Amino acid sequence: MMQGKFITIEGSEGAGKSTNMCFVQDFLSSKNIEFISTREPGGTEISEKIRDLLLDKSNSSLCDDAELLLMFAARAQHLNELIKPTLAAGKWVISDRFTDASYAYQGGGRGLSWEKITQLEQWVQGSLRPDATILLDIPVDIGMQRVRERGEADRFEQEQLSFFNRIRDAYLRLAKENPKRFHIVDTQPAIEDVHKQMRTVMEMITDSVTL
Ligand SMILES: Nc1ncnc2c1ncn2[C@@H]1O[C@H](COP(=O)(O)OP(=O)(O)O)[C@@H](O)[C@H]1O
Ligand SMILES: [Mg+2]
Repeated sequence: MMQGKFITIEGSEGAGKSTNMCFVQDFLSSKNIEFISTREPGGTEISEKIRDLLLDKSNSSLCDDAELLLMFAARAQHLNELIKPTLAAGKWVISDRFTDASYAYQGGGRGLSWEKITQLEQWVQGSLRPDATILLDIPVDIGMQRVRERGEADRFEQEQLSFFNRIRDAYLRLAKENPKRFHIVDTQPAIEDVHKQMRTVMEMITDSVTL
């Protein structure tokens, strides 16, 4: 059986990942492509428990290395329990965040070396990488404004503007280094315009992998 495709959606806080996940789901359904959608950190019962630890504001003393290692612990479980078996069964996997988020948040945001992250990526994933990544890009102040309107902030969302600027820069750097895998969507405009961009990107992704 043909392997399913692995698509990830990335972007900093308020970029529109959850909002555009719905668009991707509708698009794939309209093409009769079987898929599951999931998220990181999380996606399985154990990984969601690790997510709770990571997002809990009361864990303010969590050190940067522990944060990175917990992200990859959750990812190892997610890959083995859900992502790999699903792809092997021929279904697509759409994930709200994956390893690019570790480079952006723990690398760019926290300042951990990319070398450390690369080692963990190699250990936990072997050669597995997303087939395509949609990077939702938005100026940090507008994203944060949208997050504030959405409700209460978690352990990451309460960080300073400079933290999120480093994250955005790291994401854009990743996109530049992986131009074949990355598709950038500007989510600053109104949702109708964003959907137009999303449609173009999803047509490209499905055309390139299903032919
Ligand atoms: N293009 C858009 N224009 C205006 N508001 C948007 C747009 N896209 C998303 N939003 C709103 O911004 C907020 C953050 O979006 P969300 O999808 O939750 O972001 P993320 O999951 O990336 O943090 C939500 O309240 C959402 O309704
Ligand atoms: Mg979200």
